[in-house]
Amino acid sequence: MGPMTPPADAALANASIRSSAAGAGPGASGAPGGDKTAAQTTAAQTTAAQTTAAQMAAAVDAAITSRHSIRAFLPTPVPREVIEQILAVASRAPSGTNTQPWKVHVLTGDSRKALSAVLCTAYDDPEQVKQHTEEYAYYPTQWVSPYIERRRKVGWDLYGLLGIAKADKGRMHVQHRRNYEFFGAPVGLIFTIDRILQQGSWLDYGMFLQSIMIAARARGLDTCPQAAFTPFHRLIERHLNLPAEEMVVCGMSLGHADPTAVENSLVTERVPPSTFAQFHE
Ligand SMILES: Cc1cc2nc3c(=O)[nH]c(=O)nc-3n(C[C@H](O)[C@H](O)[C@H](O)COP(=O)(O)O)c2cc1C
Repeated sequence: MGPMTPPADAALANASIRSSAAGAGPGASGAPGGDKTAAQTTAAQTTAAQTTAAQMAAAVDAAITSRHSIRAFLPTPVPREVIEQILAVASRAPSGTNTQPWKVHVLTGDSRKALSAVLCTAYDDPEQVKQHTEEYAYYPTQWVSPYIERRRKVGWDLYGLLGIAKADKGRMHVQHRRNYEFFGAPVGLIFTIDRILQQGSWLDYGMFLQSIMIAARARGLDTCPQAAFTPFHRLIERHLNLPAEEMVVCGMSLGHADPTAVENSLVTERVPPSTFAQFHE
């Protein structure tokens, strides 16, 4: 899928997506053909509507299921209009009382490189690493089953693909460091939230993040959401000159996946709905 030419982003965010998603347009509402009976016309319209619905389901499912966390990108740039379009689409994510708690810092070119340099320098220096810590707890302090097993599996699967042995701290460091280079992606996103907002807004935030990742897939682009940035929030705040009320949520790499990179062949497991869903009938 190639990039599309976007209309003005505000108009896109507010109008055209809704009408195209609803299937409005000549195909859905055109005048009946001259010599067709009313019944034939209705049947033809029903078939067209079913086809459109099936195509839409297939397209949405493909965008969702083809999303994987990508950890090696090509340097191919992503045009600014495409980034703006993805953000405009994602801004349609729901949020409690339409609060829209998201703020995004889009880093490209030298600004992305400069932040990467600051973070890599910090990460390479054990003394500096000690001085930085997360501002919010993403993970529990005590791991329990089944989460600990899932967490370990994805880690070892990734390192296994890369040929990194369990004791090889050096190569693990190098691999984790790739986070701070946005895995080579031309676009780095840093997400922030107003500190005044509560847990509910973080729920909204997740929907926004997923919407970005899905809208990216619809344009043939890939992403990796990254909590790895959170320990270094003070450096990021300074670098981006964030006001005191803005808190770093996470980062994300955005770009074209490198199809030759072995780490991008990782397909993570999911438990089936029968494991996590209970039907109460
Ligand atoms: C909020 C969030 C933060 C994440 N942080 C990182 C990260 O810092 N580095 C990384 O390589 N992957 C990160 N991931 C990716 C997860 O490891 C990944 O989503 C999970 O293993 C499932 O794999 P999949 O995304 O390929 O389906 C993060 C995912 C989420 C949702």
